[in-house]
Amino acid sequence: MYSSALALLAFACGTAVATPAPYSTACAAALPLPVRTIFQLDKTVPFSWFENVAIRGNGDLLVTMLSPNASVYSLHQPASGPAKVSIINIGDANGLLGIAETSPDVFAISGGTFSSLAAPVAGTLGIWELNLRGPKPTTRLITKIPEAVFLNGVVSVPGSPSPAILVADNGVSRVWRVDLKTGKYETAAEVPEMRALPNATTAIGVNGLKIHNGHLYFSNSNLASIFRMPLDKSGLAAQGAQATLVAKFDADNIDDFLIDEKGKYWAATNFDNTVAVASQGATGVVVAGTTTELTVAGDTALALGRTIRDRNIVYAVTGGALNRPVNGTVTEPAKVVAIDRTGFV
Ligand SMILES: *[C@@H]1O[C@H](CO)[C@@H](O)[C@H](O)[C@H]1NC(C)=O
Ligand SMILES: *[C@@H]1O[C@H](CO)[C@@H](O)[C@H](O)[C@H]1NC(C)=O
Ligand SMILES: *[C@@H]1O[C@H](CO)[C@@H](O)[C@H](O)[C@H]1NC(C)=O
Repeated sequence: MYSSALALLAFACGTAVATPAPYSTACAAALPLPVRTIFQLDKTVPFSWFENVAIRGNGDLLVTMLSPNASVYSLHQPASGPAKVSIINIGDANGLLGIAETSPDVFAISGGTFSSLAAPVAGTLGIWELNLRGPKPTTRLITKIPEAVFLNGVVSVPGSPSPAILVADNGVSRVWRVDLKTGKYETAAEVPEMRALPNATTAIGVNGLKIHNGHLYFSNSNLASIFRMPLDKSGLAAQGAQATLVAKFDADNIDDFLIDEKGKYWAATNFDNTVAVASQGATGVVVAGTTTELTVAGDTALALGRTIRDRNIVYAVTGGALNRPVNGTVTEPAKVVAIDRTGFV
């Protein structure tokens, strides 16, 4: 009776229950989770780096490229066989970073001109719109932010009286609010937890942004941590708001992250070449990759599938470990992988 119940669970989860995993339930997926590459550039695209990913209502992935140029790679039906890819170019920029959907099939993207991979040219950074509602994609500049030093993660402000986004600026350790209609921008939040470590080789503080239950969640790359702070309705830090630590990963660095339905934090660790998942207050467990493998080498951002077919897929995009080569020397072209979290609890 007991063993047949176990066998049933194992069948339901598609995985062996005997796996010694640090989970309290019998229905735990074995780690690492299965990872499948669904798209990878080749060596004809030198120094390729994918920086972020958003998912359309129809399930297509939109992947921003930081290097070598300002392209958005659109991957059609990523869950079914080899992805069909089209490329959308954003004018007047040569590198793109954060991306967020601001209304159905309309996206805001941060970007600018870079003189090398992590070296933005002063005064060139801004926010562009990508509109996919018509028969052909259209793009427009929403606004340049001349005071910005290194724009990064973007998030849409839900329920704002006027449509707006927040965008992280790891150059000035601040989050900006940008009004999407007028292009007007202002400081939304600026707290010490957004700063980089002064002694870091690659100094990056605030990076990825999410909004959840009226709070801004942000990653601090150098601190390998996620913090949160309360926002007001318009997306500005609530009066007197302070940041609280919600997760500190056992990693050298984290890049962008997502929050799943259970409130767990999934982080792309970039320099560590892993994806790690942490509950509130925990240091996280590695679910994909290792420091010495190319599985998710230099992973920069994650997104959870939006359709019935791929709601158990976490998509990860990578920069091929360009910034910190695996074993000191090994890099690869940028890619998009699908991580199957079925049975992971
Ligand atoms: C960016 O690079 C890709 C890959 O080489 C190419 O297909 C695309 O046309 C390039 N875009 C621009 C604006 O140069
Ligand atoms: C940098 O400073 C932090 C905090 O003071 C310290 O924990 C860390 O070990 C230092 N790292 C290096 C590489 O010196
Ligand atoms: C890195 O080095 C380790 C240990 O020698 C080796 O097992 C691993 O395959 C190497 N990784 C790559 C991507 O070459």
